[in-house]
Amino acid sequence: MTEWMQELIVLVEAEFHSKRIVGSLATVETDGTPRSRMVIVRSFNPSDNTLWITTDSRSDKMSQLEARPFAELVFWLLNERQQFRLRGPVEMVRDGSARQELWNGLNDSSRAMFFWPMPGAVRVPGSEFAKAVAPGPAPQEFVLLVLKPQIVEALELNESPHRRRRWSEADGWRMELLNP
Ligand SMILES: Cc1cc2nc3c(=O)[nH]c(=O)nc-3n(C[C@H](O)[C@H](O)[C@H](O)COP(=O)(O)O)c2cc1C
Repeated sequence: MTEWMQELIVLVEAEFHSKRIVGSLATVETDGTPRSRMVIVRSFNPSDNTLWITTDSRSDKMSQLEARPFAELVFWLLNERQQFRLRGPVEMVRDGSARQELWNGLNDSSRAMFFWPMPGAVRVPGSEFAKAVAPGPAPQEFVLLVLKPQIVEALELNESPHRRRRWSEADGWRMELLNP
């Protein structure tokens, strides 16, 4: 397991008593301008150094990722006063057993959102928003985003000077200490 993945898993478990964490995922719009939004990281996978996020195929981030399949994910771990930034390519997974397992693992109200009207479109009065959807075959709107970081940075504010570290895949994941 890479050093950064191990640290992140320990920190997330300590912070939230779970392996789930919310972070900000940044992508680039087709006109070159940035977009960022909060997402839940559903799984940390030490076997291939990936992080899994689920999303709606109709959301803007999908067309952004189709045009430029790269993203940066940022976490703030409040108790440890630590920031993690992870950037790299994103694979969009629309079938397979891992995606189906994640779908079945969602609660009924989270599954229902994938049957709501077009995300980001102007809301039409009288539109229907399903409240609960039971497990079953995942709909085509349900997409698994697999982020495979190539560069990871950690910034720790508990120390003075702050400790800023960088790991890069191209460098065999060797840790480098940077100026904060
Ligand atoms: C705490 C929190 C967690 C969220 N988790 C997700 C998520 O896991 N996946 C997702 O697609 N959107 C999630 N959202 C909604 C996104 O922030 C965003 O509003 C939505 O995905 C549309 O983004 P887009 O138009 O840039 O594609 C979450 C929002 C919040 C506030």
